[in-house]
Amino acid sequence: MPPRVIGFCGTSWRPAKARALVEAASAGLAARHGVTVRILDLVDAGAGLAAFTRDGLGHAARGVIEAIEQADGLVIGCPVFQGSYPGLFKHVFDLIGPGALKNRPVLLTAVGGGLRHSLVVEHQLRPLFGFFEACTVSTAVYAGSAEIADGTLPPMIAARLADAVDQFAAHLNRDCADAA
Ligand SMILES: Cc1cc2nc3c(=O)[nH]c(=O)nc-3n(C[C@H](O)[C@H](O)[C@H](O)COP(=O)(O)O)c2cc1C
Repeated sequence: MPPRVIGFCGTSWRPAKARALVEAASAGLAARHGVTVRILDLVDAGAGLAAFTRDGLGHAARGVIEAIEQADGLVIGCPVFQGSYPGLFKHVFDLIGPGALKNRPVLLTAVGGGLRHSLVVEHQLRPLFGFFEACTVSTAVYAGSAEIADGTLPPMIAARLADAVDQFAAHLNRDCADAA
């Protein structure tokens, strides 16, 4: 069975630059490694995400949570909100079973309005997936929104993303310990 890879964007609007990074990573995974990615975002989860517990989730929101839990790997794309990830993005992961992502490869990307918060990928996103004992790939990718103004990526970001894609593909279907 082919690996189930989910791209998950912490975006609640479309089009979204953070989704563009996930789409670029997905295109790279398809072209270079034959891996198909299903991309989801907060719009897919819908208003039914606003629940205190899993039992209260709407059907669509439950589907997004379950898709993430069942994924063999995740490609994350987040807009930067107040120097971190959006609260609703964290809410999704608050509802994920603590053991669900153990040893799963996770590719981290984020987009901010400027460049000052580029370390959000290292100081916010990576520790979140560290909690889950997931296997975040070494190269994380950050872009300022102006850098992907026309949908194409500057060469330096494209090269970083290609590195991250290759690392992610190497980890897919292997435990972190095996891949190291
Ligand atoms: C509530 C909110 C808070 C934001 N906080 C930051 C921030 O702290 N740092 C930053 O670089 N950009 C911040 N931004 C800008 C977004 O990260 C940026 O506009 C987004 O990633 C690009 O989205 P786009 O798809 O609309 O172009 C914020 C945007 C919003 C709506």
